[in-house]
Amino acid sequence: MSDWIISKVISWSESYFRSNSIDNPRLTAEILLGFSLDIKRIELYLQHDRPLNKDELDFYKQLIKRRINREPVAYITGRKGFYNSEFLTPPNVLIPRPDTETLVENILTYLKPTDSKVKPKKILELGAGSGAIIISLADLFPEHLYFANDLSWEAIKTVKYNSKQILDNIKKINLFQTSWFDAIKRSPLFDIIISNPPYIKASEIETLAEEIKNFEPISALDGGEDGLECLNEIIVNCSDYLLPGGTLLLEMGFDQKEGVNDIVKTCPDLEQAEFEKDLAGHLRVAIIKKRLSTSK
Ligand SMILES: C[S@@+](CC[C@H](N)C(=O)[O-])C[C@H]1O[C@@H](n2cnc3c(N)ncnc32)[C@H](O)[C@@H]1O
Repeated sequence: MSDWIISKVISWSESYFRSNSIDNPRLTAEILLGFSLDIKRIELYLQHDRPLNKDELDFYKQLIKRRINREPVAYITGRKGFYNSEFLTPPNVLIPRPDTETLVENILTYLKPTDSKVKPKKILELGAGSGAIIISLADLFPEHLYFANDLSWEAIKTVKYNSKQILDNIKKINLFQTSWFDAIKRSPLFDIIISNPPYIKASEIETLAEEIKNFEPISALDGGEDGLECLNEIIVNCSDYLLPGGTLLLEMGFDQKEGVNDIVKTCPDLEQAEFEKDLAGHLRVAIIKKRLSTSK
């Protein structure tokens, strides 16, 4: 058993993961081994010749089995890094994606530091999931007021936990469990509304990687027959909740520009949408402003 020193365990599991077509085999081995030994990845190198005892090896083997069974690393370890923080990611709550950092970067351009004389902005996130977006914003700009909802109670509990862990005691996200705008006072209160709603076509869910379709909550992914159902619900209602000149920022699929434009055209109080690209050059963020003077 003492043959199983850290460096050997990593090389063995790297090739085992590779032969089972697991993405990033070395990184996966390091994250899972670091997690099972409760040490940082750098420590795996500093302690490369440390032998694993039987209990440690047995525990690590169970994690390997779960990953071979296609369970995502973030559900095995229960956490995922996003933007500047680490988030709890329990089962039934969507794992935050690096792609979504593009949405956060775009929101930040609307939240430049303001001096204390400026009125705090009211920011609402619809479908907060783990809280990755809204907590990252509240962490950077504590002077504003933050509101978030989700239909899933698991998600609400997770945002609560993550905000306690990441934000200091004074900052708070006002949370409520509702469907999109239901139960929010129909009144133009918010400077900014954000959402990364489900936007995958129902028929495409079956074609997704096993990691996603077998483990992540379908309710966080399924955007209905055309993928645009949730985006539509949010866009057509947002002007009742945005202040004049306020902004809606949405994550969307790389091929949904036309669909989003068609929805926006049906909303007289909204200006034409603008689109921003992610790091891979795909249009992934829609920015939609409410007109300064509107019919309401
Ligand atoms: C794509 S996930 C985004 C989660 C998180 N904002 C993120 O970016 O990682 C979509 C979220 O919308 C929530 N959701 C789905 N339908 C909803 C509805 N009708 N009302 C509110 N939230 C909903 C899901 O539970 C899920 O947490």
